[in-house]
Amino acid sequence: MALFRITGGRPLHGSVAASGSKNAALPMMAASILADGPVRLQGVPRLADVETLSLVLRDLGMEVGWTPDDALSLETVDATPIRARYDLVRRMRASFCVLGPLLARRGRAVVSLPGGCNIGHRPVDLHLKGLAAMGARLRLRHGYIVGRARRLIGTRIELSGRHGPTVTGTANVLSAAVLARGTTTIIGAAMEPEIVDLGNMLNAMGGRISGLGTATIRIAGVQRLNGTIYRVIPDRIEAATLLAAAAITRGSATVTGVVPDHLAVVLDMFRRAGFQLEVGDDWVSITANGPPRPVSITAAPYPGAASDLQAQWTALMSLARGRSTVRDRVFANRFLHVAELNRLGAQIQRRRSTAVVTGVRSLAGAAVTASDLRASAALVLAGLAARGRTTVRCVHHLDRGYEGLDHKLTRLGGQIERIGDGEQWLASSPLRG
Ligand code: EPU
Repeated sequence: MALFRITGGRPLHGSVAASGSKNAALPMMAASILADGPVRLQGVPRLADVETLSLVLRDLGMEVGWTPDDALSLETVDATPIRARYDLVRRMRASFCVLGPLLARRGRAVVSLPGGCNIGHRPVDLHLKGLAAMGARLRLRHGYIVGRARRLIGTRIELSGRHGPTVTGTANVLSAAVLARGTTTIIGAAMEPEIVDLGNMLNAMGGRISGLGTATIRIAGVQRLNGTIYRVIPDRIEAATLLAAAAITRGSATVTGVVPDHLAVVLDMFRRAGFQLEVGDDWVSITANGPPRPVSITAAPYPGAASDLQAQWTALMSLARGRSTVRDRVFANRFLHVAELNRLGAQIQRRRSTAVVTGVRSLAGAAVTASDLRASAALVLAGLAARGRTTVRCVHHLDRGYEGLDHKLTRLGGQIERIGDGEQWLASSPLRG
């Protein structure tokens, strides 16, 4: 298992580019099942999760590979396979997003239920409810959802659950509805930029979708979809993580190639915490002149503060002058980073779905273990700020969703050494090219 050895306490400085968005790219890859013709996605980050979904899609009769100009090319060569296996879906839940496209395009699907997850209970009932409302017959057999649909039928679907809208659930239902007969209206749809991006890609393929970015999406079904060439939006979570790295080390950094609108809420959080920001057309700079002011947040569906940033924000607030709270309304149990941050000297108490953070003057290096993607990022940030040496174990979690984060942070002056077989998946990648 790979680990990072971080020598902390150095302010980061410089400029670094954001990668393409993981959470936009994954449902788009799944949606390429719908196309009659090749799909080329530009700006897809080279990540373990992209590899995993590529393997799922290959099992499903698709040719998937990097083009010489760095796009990910996806094309159906055999439309008969319909099975997404457990060992892959378990590894990466977004694989479940093949269910809607398979039902819509191939009329049948056998897709493993994803199972447990380190960030808490993550059911897929809303995905299933939405697809069933369009006429898919779904049943659970030996851990797999077995589905059939002659042609899906457009209808009105309320997709919001107890915790609010579902991002990948919206992606699944939206991707299925584009080929349905008649019009589908999704009420309580996710409004995340990644869903807007998926909708834009489906429209580029010939879909007729309106209302993207609002809670009500209307999809007028079409008979067929073309292939397309489409550029994925920049990763707003990665960009904010990089800004937080500069902030926590009391440095300054510019992150380029971003869509500042997608970062509006987090930029406001940084401002309230006392950091200086400059915002250009496609870049953001942050400068820290001291420790942050405490800023409490509640992670909520977009346009709320992203749950995918609450761990990193908790790390930042651990060095604030005063007390703050970080609550997660999306995933009430996404707090495995708290005990690890406390090993570095943070003072954080978990109370149900809230971390109560009492700022300390400094953190001190220690050995910590990452439990999931964003928790890993939080530990890396804390390690960069901590005095002395921090080792972060299990950074394979980080490799699932950040493209070369260690390289980017090193470019900004961070001292991070990767030890072990960390990027072996990249070296042995079937997509290498
Ligand atoms: N939920 C249900 N039923 C469902 C689906 C979701 O009750 O059928 C609940 C979930 O348990 C949760 C809430 O609804 O309480 C929202 O979950 P959502 O479905 O929106 O999450 P997701 O689609 O599984 C995506 C991202 C996550 C991100 C969440 C929230 C992708 C591939 N994943 O997950 O990203 O945290 O939305 O924004 O887009 C990450 O990148 O680290 C990550 C975990």
